[in-house]
Amino acid sequence: MSDNIQTVTVLSKTTWTPNLFSFTVSRPDSFKFTAGQFVRLGVNPSQLKYYQQTEASDESSDTALNEDVFRAYSIVSSPFDEVIEFFSIVIPDGAFTSQLQHLQVGDELLLNTMPFGFLTLARYQKPLPKDLWLLATGTGLAPFLSMLQDLKTWEDYEHIVLAYSARTLDELAYVEKIESLQEDFGTLVDNPAKLIFIPIVTREPVDGALSERLPKLLLEGTLQARAGIALDIDTTHVMLCGNPDMVEDTKEALKTLGLVMNRRGEGNIAVENYW
Ligand SMILES: Cc1cc2nc3c(=O)[nH]c(=O)nc-3n(C[C@H](O)[C@H](O)[C@H](O)COP(=O)(O)OP(=O)(O)OC[C@H]3O[C@@H](n4cnc5c(N)ncnc54)[C@H](O)[C@@H]3O)c2cc1C
Ligand SMILES: NC(=O)c1ccc[n+]([C@@H]2O[C@H](COP(=O)([O-])OP(=O)(O)OC[C@H]3O[C@@H](n4cnc5c(N)ncnc54)[C@H](OP(=O)(O)O)[C@@H]3O)[C@@H](O)[C@H]2O)c1
Repeated sequence: MSDNIQTVTVLSKTTWTPNLFSFTVSRPDSFKFTAGQFVRLGVNPSQLKYYQQTEASDESSDTALNEDVFRAYSIVSSPFDEVIEFFSIVIPDGAFTSQLQHLQVGDELLLNTMPFGFLTLARYQKPLPKDLWLLATGTGLAPFLSMLQDLKTWEDYEHIVLAYSARTLDELAYVEKIESLQEDFGTLVDNPAKLIFIPIVTREPVDGALSERLPKLLLEGTLQARAGIALDIDTTHVMLCGNPDMVEDTKEALKTLGLVMNRRGEGNIAVENYW
């Protein structure tokens, strides 16, 4: 096993919908990361209690079920938390999540403790613009939750807009957590209105949520109107995370509005695709 790979224990699990869940694992003492980064998580199905209960005695079991499978996962929790939290989709025929969905408290996973990724606020050179826009679909919310649990994010920007798009209301996970961050960190920086949360639900009508896809909302100005602030090349950092089609289409919409990709610290737009 690589030097970077450590065994971690599942400490809690929250099921949001049949296709979405979150879980926390123990944090190795040596593991450090920056809010927004991701790690590689590994599962060996034969190590899951579920597998041991249902399959272990079956000698004809597929040998693939005894192999480690690794996937990239953004960290939800803050760099200061004692545990590490993740937010996961379930792809019924996906090699990783078809197994991971069965994890139970006490199960062991593998964690590659080398953090990766440049969807971090450190990628932007100073001086900082005043507004930060965080645009996510589905589990792409994860890195933004980590950033929002870092006081520095709140101190560095005048406004933070979080627009988070899911297909249905029940898939809009973490809403209570976002509201508690608004309250807790907003109080710490004496500005409860600093975080502007814009929920988007695209496949059913929901009171208080927008219903169109992010690129359309941006091009029509609906998102900016809801946030109450403009997107401007000189005052805006914008990060996109989640569905690659959303990332591509939204990037194009932002370019149409005059923003530019962030390269070597300069520019507005930073992105991360999940597949
Ligand atoms: C940098 C990075 C960070 C990531 N962070 C997360 C995370 O925090 N949470 C998470 O659930 N996944 C995350 N992913 C995706 C993750 O690595 C796996 O793809 C996912 O766990 C599914 O694995 P699988 O083997 O079951 O299916 P795969 O064979 O990996 O994927 C099969 C198909 O499922 C769809 N898919 C994959 N991931 C997602 C997703 N997250 N949401 C919706 N559809 C998806 C795509 O259509 C993909 O082609 C991340 C990916 C990258 C590159
Ligand atoms: N969510 C489910 O019920 C479900 C169930 C089983 C399996 N899955 C699998 O999970 C994956 C999708 O999961 P998901 O629901 O988290 O992700 P998703 O399809 O990325 O949907 C999440 C949000 O992103 C939006 N979106 C999609 N493409 C976009 C684009 N080009 N521009 C802007 N917004 C865009 C969606 O809007 P739209 O609604 O307009 O697309 C939705 O609001 C698929 O592989 C699917 O097969 C999902």
